[in-house]
Amino acid sequence: MIIVDRISEMQALMRQCRREGKTIGFVPTMGYLHEGHAALIDRAREENDMVVVSIFVNPLQFGPNEDFARYPRDFARDRHIAEQRGVDVLFHPEAGEMYPGPLTVQAVVKARTDVLCGRSRPGHFDGVATVLIKLFHIVMPDRAYFGMKDAQQVAVVDGLIRDFNFPIELVPVPTVREADGLAKSSRNVYLSSQERKEAPALYQALQAAAAAVEEGERSGDALRRLVKEHIEAHTHAEIDYVEVCSYPDLTPLETLHGTVLVAVAVRFTSARLIDNVILRLP
Ligand code: PAJ
Repeated sequence: MIIVDRISEMQALMRQCRREGKTIGFVPTMGYLHEGHAALIDRAREENDMVVVSIFVNPLQFGPNEDFARYPRDFARDRHIAEQRGVDVLFHPEAGEMYPGPLTVQAVVKARTDVLCGRSRPGHFDGVATVLIKLFHIVMPDRAYFGMKDAQQVAVVDGLIRDFNFPIELVPVPTVREADGLAKSSRNVYLSSQERKEAPALYQALQAAAAAVEEGERSGDALRRLVKEHIEAHTHAEIDYVEVCSYPDLTPLETLHGTVLVAVAVRFTSARLIDNVILRLP
């Protein structure tokens, strides 16, 4: 596995790969790798000649009161996991390499951000879009892999790739969960042992919503209420949002139809967790 921390070196290496006719699969991450990231890497490994993983905790996508400074980082461990999973190139730039000075142009995501995490984290998706534009130009992949755990991110990236004509295929990968249903997340390490016991209630609530729809429930409000009440009854977390909207447009739904995203975000003492399910109605 090659480890690269310079953009110019990365671009030269990727140009070389392309000249040799190799396909490139790219998995952008912020590190502290877990089985969720590994699922993306495995999928990229199956579908491409070269697998590139980036590890960069992007300051631009964190709000002033968010957890940028204490976001978990462990490069030695990440490097080991990446190597074991058969990653070819690990791109690990410093913040000063990615952002040598103030940006003169910045991306603003104009649709799909007035709901869900876009509403609770103003500017977050602008930061995600900006770093991805840079990373896509640096890596020049054929395919890019994103987890459905961040369903809104997948929808936003889909718009970015279409709007700016990146010749990249977006590959969404299903959410990887712990045995008890909790979605794997780098932030799970910040749960207290009591909170860790409560956290699977998020997915249980989403499953209860899926079961209700299966049994004929078609009201967005009823579904929101059901999810909220389940989480309130089983956790001490503060609910940030419970949303029921169309996917990938992310329009809040009164009456369910088509492809429906049911998504939640909650705050435990030191970690904000998100989860979602996608339901396909006949
Ligand atoms: P990060 O949170 O490190 O996640 C990197 C990728 O792993 C994302 O596509 C995310 O959806 C996916 N992922 C995380 N947990 C997952 C799980 N349990 N199952 C499946 N996939 C999972 O998302 C980011 O980083 C950043 O916003 C980034 C795209 C790198 C831009 O900075």
